[in-house]
Amino acid sequence: MKFTKITALAVSVAGLFWISTSLNDAQAQKTKGKTRPAATKYLMRGVVRPSCASLGKLLKEGPADDKAWDTAACHAACLSEMSFALMDDGRCPDGVWAKAATKNLREGSAAVLAAVEAKDLDAANAAFKTVTASCAACHKEHKK
Ligand code: HEC
Repeated sequence: MKFTKITALAVSVAGLFWISTSLNDAQAQKTKGKTRPAATKYLMRGVVRPSCASLGKLLKEGPADDKAWDTAACHAACLSEMSFALMDDGRCPDGVWAKAATKNLREGSAAVLAAVEAKDLDAANAAFKTVTASCAACHKEHKK
C-alpha cells in the first residue's frame, strides 16, 4: 500500500516536471527556432514589420510606376517567405500560430503577390487584409 502511494507520488512529480519542461520548450520555440540563430523578434523587426509597412503604404497610394509595382511584389514575396520560416525549425508551438502563419500570412501574401503581378490594386488591397489579420491573430495569443 505504502509502496503504491510512493509510486503514485513519484509518477505525479515526474509528470509535473515533464509538463513544466514542455511549457518551457513551447516558450523557447516561439522566441527562436531549435537550431537556427535568428530570434523571432528579429524576423519581425528586420523583415515582417518593414515589409508589411512598406507594402501597406504602396497599396494605399497605389504604386506609381513599374518599379513601385515591383517593389510591392518584393515585399509580398518576403512576407511569403517569412510564413515558411515561422513554421520551420520547431518554432511553431500550436494550431493558432500555424493558422496565422499558413492560412493568413502565407495565403494572404501569395494572393497579394499574384494581384500585384497582375497590377490589380483592388485585389491586392483585399488580400492585404488577410496579411494584416495574421499579425493580430498570432500576437493575440503568442506575443507578450
Ligand atoms: C505566427 C506568429 C506571428 C505572426 C503571423 C506575426 N508575428 Fe509578429 N511576433 C510574433 C511573436 C511570437 C513576437 C514576440 C517575439 C519575442 O518577443 O520574442 C512578435 C513580435 C513582433 C514585433 C516586435 C519585434 C521586436 O522588435 O521586439 C513586431 C514589430 C511584429 N511582431 C510585427 C508583426 C507584423 C507587422 C505582423 C504581420 C504582418 C506579424 N508580426 C505577424 C509572432 C508573429
